[in-house]
Amino acid sequence: MINQYSHKVVLIGDGAVGSAFAYSLLQTTNEVDQLVIVTRNREKAAGDALDLADITPLTSPVEVKAGNYEDAHDADVVVITAGVPRKPGESRLDLIHKNVAILKQIVTKITATGFKGIFVISSNPVDLLTTMTQHFSGFPKDRVIGTGTSLDTLRLRLFLSQRLGLSVNAVDSQVLGEHGDSSFVTFSETMINGRPLDAIKHFTAEERAEIEEQVHRAGAEIIKRKGATFYGVAKCLSAIVSAIIENQNRVLPISAPLDGQYGINDLYLGTPAVINRQGIGQVIEYSLSHEEQLKMQASADQLKAVLEQVKN
Ligand code: LAC
Repeated sequence: MINQYSHKVVLIGDGAVGSAFAYSLLQTTNEVDQLVIVTRNREKAAGDALDLADITPLTSPVEVKAGNYEDAHDADVVVITAGVPRKPGESRLDLIHKNVAILKQIVTKITATGFKGIFVISSNPVDLLTTMTQHFSGFPKDRVIGTGTSLDTLRLRLFLSQRLGLSVNAVDSQVLGEHGDSSFVTFSETMINGRPLDAIKHFTAEERAEIEEQVHRAGAEIIKRKGATFYGVAKCLSAIVSAIIENQNRVLPISAPLDGQYGINDLYLGTPAVINRQGIGQVIEYSLSHEEQLKMQASADQLKAVLEQVKN
């Protein structure tokens, strides 16, 4: 249960995603009292803490410091960004073996402190690492959250708004499934200014496939040019953490624990969910078209096949 009076966030991993998240969090919520950065390179964490503290007179009076795993014992949220990132040409699933080993060490150390808060994970492949975090920690499923398709959904809304020549705020559409190459767009539920997409513009099957492909390629397009992606996922992380700390009951597409939704069990996968002080307040099951349901199942099957390799 998260502390009502003093809010503490511990960040594990201070690479490009971790430090961008810390910067974003300080500007997204005024309700965090302490942000502790834990990473192997303690000097980097200490330097980032000092650098970030410089902006707090303009944001909110957060104490930012470098720390260690023990800091998790009374934290409300532990954010895990640690892990090996993708290189050009690699898929997110290619990272699984290295990152599961890193994750296991981290989660074991965190749970040993008596941590009773909420885990939020962005390391890739995020759906599987979120599933494994719940497994390693033994935590209730609603206290483990992954960034899921939150970033894919932002990208989709942007691409659709560009094609339609409308503000991104006009576009209500979601990406579901794996945060990766098997994700898909819920065109059947897409609304533009409150009206069904088809009433505004008919996209052919080819155009729909092209939009989905644009979403799939988006991360790789960034990695190809600058070697990494971090601002997008960092913003998604700070939105999730703020929703928890501020008890927002905000609906975000995340890696959520499926327990019969879409006929899928025992796997975290991208679908919208209500985020609040408890973690995941409710997993929302979209009504999918037959074709979309097949895509959701295919995404789950693919991830479960990789999960089996890791567990064995
Ligand atoms: C991306 C990384 C976060 O899609 O997977 O940018």
